[in-house]
Amino acid sequence: MGSKLTGCGSATPSLSISNDDLSKIVDTSDEWIAARTGIRNRRVLSGNETLRELSVQAAKKALEMAQVNADDVDLVLLCTSTPDDLFGGAAQILSEVGCTNAFGFDITAACSGFIVGLITATRFIKGGGIQNVLVIGADALSQFVDWTDRGTCILFGDAAGAVLVQSILSKTNGVPSFPPKKATFSRIEMNGKEVFRFAVRCVPQSIEKALEEAGLPASSIDWLLLHQANQRIIDAAASRLDIPSDKVISNLANYGNTSAASIPLALDEAVRAGKVKAGDVIAASGFGAGLTWGSAILKW
Ligand code: ACO
Repeated sequence: MGSKLTGCGSATPSLSISNDDLSKIVDTSDEWIAARTGIRNRRVLSGNETLRELSVQAAKKALEMAQVNADDVDLVLLCTSTPDDLFGGAAQILSEVGCTNAFGFDITAACSGFIVGLITATRFIKGGGIQNVLVIGADALSQFVDWTDRGTCILFGDAAGAVLVQSILSKTNGVPSFPPKKATFSRIEMNGKEVFRFAVRCVPQSIEKALEEAGLPASSIDWLLLHQANQRIIDAAASRLDIPSDKVISNLANYGNTSAASIPLALDEAVRAGKVKAGDVIAASGFGAGLTWGSAILKW
């Protein structure tokens, strides 16, 4: 059974941090960051704000656009590497959105999470019995950023984005050690140059494969929507795929790399701005830590 995207929504924290703000805490400059990455600002959770709240807001907006009631949602997929709760966030979010008839779970695949979530949603729908799936991409990497490392702290921001995926027929073995080790996550470390090379090589290949599976030529792409990590990666992939810059969606300058949230956040802005229209074909690709990567050809 086929699927369609019928709504999208997004939410970002209130605190905006500019490149100039960052130059007060690490040895960097607006010129360096903008030239190497395309990023100028990023939003970061502050005060009592939580990723859960952003996710709930984004999901509600997606349902509103799709004109679907929360209790008609069957499944909620929370794509995140940074849930508020150790045991995942999907259950709490679906309850706060009011999805009283849904089950849900988390998907962790770093910056590829949203694409993995989309593909999972379409597989559940194809399997039958599921008609409406909320796919939420949300991350708050600011909690794991080493704010003294100028090579990484300039890159990331926090956000949540969501889409509703509907069926086209929808009306609406280890041995535990004792004592256990305390779980800790270290701060983000990254070999930026290697990740850059990997992304520029794998993303176009992955999109070409997705096009082949969909039986579509590259010329049928209306929009290229990549994980928003670095403008130079986006430009290089577009150039390898021979896609002109006016068909490339980018909002990286305002939000930085928001990990699993970046694709639905950029999609939501482009849809609400009237740029992406009904029937448009979007080539989307996520890539990141793991390393993980994946692509999907979507019709809005
Ligand atoms: N300001 C000023 N100078 C800096 C900064 C900074 N913020 N950061 C690094 N530099 C310096 C370095 O120290 C180095 O100086 P040196 O030559 O004296 O040693 C010089 O600038 C060049 O550094 P590089 O790391 O080689 O810079 P590069 O051009 O590779 O850009 C960047 C770094 C922006 C991180 C780039 O490699 C990149 O974007 N990589 C991809 C990252 C990515 O896409 N990640 C996605 C996955 S994230 C996830 O999944 C969680």
